[in-house]
Amino acid sequence: MPNIYKFNIGSDFVLKAVTGIEDFMESSEASSIRIALSGGSSPIAVYEKLAASQKIDWSRIEIYQVDERSDHSNEEMIREALIAKLSDLKAFHPFDKNYEKKIQALPRPFFHLVLLGLGEDGHTASIFPHSSAVEEIEALTLKTESPTGVKERITLSFPAILSSEKIIFLIRGAGKKEILSRWLSDEGSEMEIPAKVILDHPDVDVYYDYSQS
Ligand code: 6PG
Repeated sequence: MPNIYKFNIGSDFVLKAVTGIEDFMESSEASSIRIALSGGSSPIAVYEKLAASQKIDWSRIEIYQVDERSDHSNEEMIREALIAKLSDLKAFHPFDKNYEKKIQALPRPFFHLVLLGLGEDGHTASIFPHSSAVEEIEALTLKTESPTGVKERITLSFPAILSSEKIIFLIRGAGKKEILSRWLSDEGSEMEIPAKVILDHPDVDVYYDYSQS
């Protein structure tokens, strides 16, 4: 079971999530730390606060993307909230046509840390309920379709995401209470709630802010 941290004050959520990420990075002995970042709205304030962290040595850090929309809005958000504010980042690897090969060439586990979100329908990354992407076991990246919002997506597959030392979920919104409890219960299948696949990973932390609507 993941470690669950719940907050009813937004600033506490941001502070604790940032501290958790800083602690992980500080304790890592890797010379190059590879982290994969999700899009969506929940992580924005965390990325902004991370950009101001005095504890992170960004020259050791390589940032990858978990998923992207056809309008490139995830890359845009990650650049604006975090990357544009860093002067010494080792590298940023946005989704491009060589992304699958780039991931394939990484040592395993591919990532040291993956940051994920949770949708009200149980999706995570851009892997949506009742789609073949939930069961993908070979490809590292996949084209998928979102039932809502920007339709065309590209995403790391579950095998790529699970190849990470640690996984942290950043989840905000009172409206996600129900899916959060269904996700963590024995109820429902992986096809219905794709984020359940991540529960197979041994080191998952969940930060949940239920203060906002
Ligand atoms: C995306 C994502 C997606 C997101 C969830 C939660 O690009 O949409 O990476 O998996 O994390 O949909 O989104 P919110 O944080 O906006 O609720």
